Amino acid sequence: MELTAQQLGAFDGTDPSKPIYVSIRGTIYDVSSGKGFYGPGGSYAVFAGREASRALGKMSKSEEDVNGNLDGLSEKEMGVLEDWEKKFQAKYPVVGRLAS
Ligand code: HEM
Repeated sequence: MELTAQQLGAFDGTDPSKPIYVSIRGTIYDVSSGKGFYGPGGSYAVFAGREASRALGKMSKSEEDVNGNLDGLSEKEMGVLEDWEKKFQAKYPVVGRLAS
């Protein structure tokens, strides 16, 4: 399945009948089992229905970092992103790709 960023946005947890998705480096994960993190009111709800790579690499929850732009990330931040990617791969099912 391929989703546009706009389509991905529909899976942000605000509609309880839909799963919650997060994209990392263009791979979309179903994070519904982490609803406490990503659902409404969760600590990481800002990532729900979004491409979160930049924010994850920078350990940031700032709105302006919640995107897939990796420009200017340090080697260390790229390593942090890679660690998150591994964690998500191990924990959550992949449902598709984000259209570039
Ligand atoms: C004082 C700062 C923070 C504390 C104490 C904290 C603590 C935690 C804890 C205890 C967990 C649960 C771990 C688990 O059960 O597997 C967690 C998960 C998580 N943290 Fe933080 N965190 C902090 C800041 C941040 C920031 C700034 C980010 C931004 C990227 C972040 C991203 C995440 C994500 C994405 C998860 C969920 C991973 C999953 O889906 O399993 N955290 N955090």
